[in-house]
Amino acid sequence: MARRAAFIDSTKAKYPNTLLLDTGNIFEVQEDFQLERGLVLLGMMKKMGYHVIGVGGKDLAWGVKLFQDSTAGAGLLPVSANLLDARTGKLLFKPYAIEQVGGLRVGVFSVASSSPDFMPAALNSKPDSVKFLDPEETARKIVAELRPKCDVLVGIFNLGNHDADLLAGKLAGLDVALVGGNNPIMMGKGTHTGSALVVSPGTRGQHMARTLVTLEAGKMVSAEAEVFPLGDHWPENEVYANMRKDFEDGLNERLQKRQRDRGAISSIKHGPDHYMGHEACERCHAEAAATWVKTAHANAFATLQRRRKDSMPDCVPCHVTGFQKSGGYLSSLDPGIEVDGQKRHLENVQCEACHGMATLHDTGDSNYLSQARESCKSCHTPQQDPNFKFDVAWAKIAH
Ligand code: HEC
Ligand code: HEC
Ligand code: HEC
Ligand code: HEC
Repeated sequence: MARRAAFIDSTKAKYPNTLLLDTGNIFEVQEDFQLERGLVLLGMMKKMGYHVIGVGGKDLAWGVKLFQDSTAGAGLLPVSANLLDARTGKLLFKPYAIEQVGGLRVGVFSVASSSPDFMPAALNSKPDSVKFLDPEETARKIVAELRPKCDVLVGIFNLGNHDADLLAGKLAGLDVALVGGNNPIMMGKGTHTGSALVVSPGTRGQHMARTLVTLEAGKMVSAEAEVFPLGDHWPENEVYANMRKDFEDGLNERLQKRQRDRGAISSIKHGPDHYMGHEACERCHAEAAATWVKTAHANAFATLQRRRKDSMPDCVPCHVTGFQKSGGYLSSLDPGIEVDGQKRHLENVQCEACHGMATLHDTGDSNYLSQARESCKSCHTPQQDPNFKFDVAWAKIAH
């Protein structure tokens, strides 16, 4: 990133009318620290001057919502014309954006391939259901719609080299195609295909592609691209070098701590008594459950998410169920427990937050009811909720 920033500095000094674009696939999968790193990358990219970015399969690996929220939080604009929410049938992102560059309108859209790079991360226990529209059909529609509205038209094709090349050749009116997707191969120069210049900067941010577009009377007359490897010889921008160092130093400590926590938690998770989630109660207490879903408790976690505080150890314990107790909520990466082969989530203040672990239900201990009355104080503390009065509060959630 430090080299990338230096590259951008020197390019902007030479070409003031510069538009920065990224194909996407910023988030890596599998390891939780890669999620953290993705979030840091987004922040750095915004600082460098990026705005519009493509969406790749890996970006969704931690869940669509996480990507939507984190890009919005960073002030970036992901575009994708062919990703739908399978439940609602609605587009998950803006299909395209039109950016102003030196008085010109540059249209940018993106399409992604459904295979094989869409894979939920191992720790994303809530894989989203995403539907992919046909990239070619989608791209044709978008080109027809966008072409009259802009001076330069760029497609981000997260399709790999072969399919991106093929598609670019079929789209009359496209000016530039940027290749991303599953392990695209870096090409030193752009290649002309149909009306477009196809540019492939490769993977892992190791290269930067610079595409020079020349217009005459509002029409692109030439385009050429060069891809620069950001090797050791490349200068670093000091600000970003320091940001990277801070992140890596901090990450190291956090990972160590997290591993220790994990070790400790996984041993108590298998304790004989544990949480099971509100689903375990609804079966028999349908009325209580119907009341509970309408209370603030059932949405307490969304409150934190809206404020981007859902991983803050200072906030989470009172807005979830059984925080770091046997089978309880552990972290946003491990929010629940497996019951009968199904993952149960323990976000929100669920039944067991007040009543206690499900496994204590049938032990003949009459505490199961009375302890719920005592539970309020553990979260409605004098600092948090100085005016808390049981009778008044209970009336609002009685079931
Ligand atoms: C298999 C059915 C079943 C499930 C599952 C179940 N309960 Fe119950 N629960 C009962 C029955 C039966 C009683 C006895 C009293 C009654 O009829 O309400 C009871 C009683 C209670 C009481 C009152 C206890 C008392 O001492 O009077 C509470 C509180 C309660 N359940 C909460 C829960 C919670 C919380 C869950 C989920 C963790 C849960 N129940 C799951 C059937 C169930
Ligand atoms: C000690 C437990 C506890 C902790 C820690 C805690 N909360 Fe809460 N939070 C509550 C309780 C109880 C309420 C409801 C009573 C109230 O409104 O104060 C609440 C209410 C809220 C509300 C108002 C909900 C609404 O929309 O009406 C917000 C926002 C909130 N918390 C955010 C946070 C954030 C952010 C943090 C971390 C900085 C945090 N909470 C830490 C217990 C806690
Ligand atoms: C915010 C805390 C809290 C939550 C969340 C909560 N309860 Fe309760 N529940 C109580 C309290 C307190 C009582 C007892 C009130 C009293 O009798 O004094 C109670 C009573 C009950 C009773 C006994 C009712 C009766 O009339 O005997 C059942 C059953 C019950 N809860 C089930 C549930 C289920 C199921 C859920 C989740 C869907 C749930 N509760 C969520 C606090 C809670
Ligand atoms: C595990 C922590 C926790 C426990 C236990 C808990 N609450 Fe809450 N309560 C919260 C949080 C967090 C909120 C805020 C939810 C949100 O984000 O809107 C809240 C909100 C409320 C609200 C709505 C806000 C208001 O004041 O109007 C009521 C009413 C309430 N709680 C009553 C109770 C009662 C009664 C009990 C005990 C029977 C109880 N709570 C136990 C965490 C808890």
